[in-house]
Amino acid sequence: MPNRRFVILTAILAASLAIAAQSPATLKDAYRDSFYVGAAVNAAQFTGSDLRGAAIVAKQFSSITPENVLKWERVHPRPGVYDFALPDKYVEFGEKNHMFIVGHCLVWHSQVPDWVFEDEKGKPLAREALLQRMREHIFAVVGRYKGRINSWDVVNEALNDDGSLRQTKWLQIIGEDYIAKAFEYAHQADPQAQLNYNDYSLENEAKRNGAIALIKKLQAQGIPVAAVGIQGHDSLDWPSAALEDAAIEAFAKLGVKVAITELDIDVLPPVAPGSADVSLNVKADPKLNPYLNGLPDAVQKALAERYAGLFGVYLKDRAVVSRVTLWGVTDGDSWRNDWPVVGRTSYPLLFDRMGEPKPAFDAVIRQAARPVQR
Ligand code: G3I
Repeated sequence: MPNRRFVILTAILAASLAIAAQSPATLKDAYRDSFYVGAAVNAAQFTGSDLRGAAIVAKQFSSITPENVLKWERVHPRPGVYDFALPDKYVEFGEKNHMFIVGHCLVWHSQVPDWVFEDEKGKPLAREALLQRMREHIFAVVGRYKGRINSWDVVNEALNDDGSLRQTKWLQIIGEDYIAKAFEYAHQADPQAQLNYNDYSLENEAKRNGAIALIKKLQAQGIPVAAVGIQGHDSLDWPSAALEDAAIEAFAKLGVKVAITELDIDVLPPVAPGSADVSLNVKADPKLNPYLNGLPDAVQKALAERYAGLFGVYLKDRAVVSRVTLWGVTDGDSWRNDWPVVGRTSYPLLFDRMGEPKPAFDAVIRQAARPVQR
C-alpha cells in the first residue's frame, strides 16, 4: 500500500500540473490556437542592450513590429542612402525567436523627410517623379526582406476622422491612387507578404465607413489588401466592446483579415480619446499626470478588466482576427508617456516599469481560458 505522504504528494503534483495546463504562463501560448500576440519593439530590445526587455519579448510574444526603425526617416534618411543596420538586427531577432515579423510602415505622412517630396532645387516633385521615388523605396526596403518580413503596413493613417482622405503630400502630388500604387509596388516587391492598411479610430463610424469605402475601391481594382490594421490606441471607456466587435465584423465582411496592430490602453485623464495623431501636443499640467507615484488599485483593476474585455472580443472574432500586437512591452517604454502631453507617467501595457507582469497580464491570460462569447 502506498504510504499516505506519497499519495498526498502525488495529488499535489497532479493538481499543480492541471492548473499549469489550464493557465499557460505566456501570452503566445495562451492564444496559440487563436491569433499571434505581438509587441512593438525598440532597438534596445531587439539588439539585446535592454536584456530584460529582450527576454520578455522572446518569452511572451509570437510576433514583433519595429516601433521606429523601418520608418522612412530612419531607414532612408537621405537620397540614395539606406541604413539597414538596425532593421537587419530586428529581422534576425524575429527569425531567431520564430516570430511572425511585421514591417512598419512604408507610406505615411509622418516621419518622412521633406526631400522625398522635392527636387534638387527644393521645388515640389511632379507626380511621376514622386511615384518613382515611392517605388524605389518600397522595392529597396520590402525587397531586402523578401520572404523574411511576413506582413507590411503598406499605407498608414491615410484617413481623416470624418473618413475623407487626409491631405498629405502623397495625396496632393500623386492623387488618390497613391494608395493603390503603394500596394501594387509592395506586392511586386514581395508577392507572398501580407499587405495591410493601418489606421487609428477605425471603430468610429465615419472613419470606419471611409476605410470600408477605401478597401472596396482597392478591391475593385484588384489590389491585394490582405488585412486592415485597427491600431487600438484605446482608453478605459473607448471603444466599447460592442463598437470594437462591430468594426471587426464590418471589415470581416469585406473578406479581409483584421489585425489589432498597436494596442495600448490609456488610464490617464483623457486628452484626445481614440486619436493617435502624432502632431498633437498638449501643454503639461499636473492635473493631467495624477499617478506619478504608482497606479491606485482600483485603476489597476479597471485596466485589467478592460484588457480582458477587449481580448474577449478578439477571441469571439478569432476567425478574422489574425494578430493582436501591443504597442510596446513595459509601461516605461510606451510612447504614451510623451503623447499627447510630454513627460507623463503612463500605465498602458501589460508589464510594469520593472518588467513584472501586471494584473492586466493575468487577466489577459485568464481570458484565454474562458468560454468564448457568441
Ligand atoms: O531616438 C531619438 C533620440 O535620439 C532623441 O534624443 C529624441 C529627442 O526627440 O528623439 C528620439 O526619437 C523619438 C522616437 O520616438 C524614439 O523615442 C522621436 O523623436 C519620436 O518622434 C518617436 O515617436 C514615435 C512616433 O510613432 C513617431 O514616429 C514613437 O516612438 C512611436 O511609438 C510612434 O508610433 C506610432 C506608429 O508608428 C503609428 N501609429 C501611431 C503610433 C503612436 O504615435
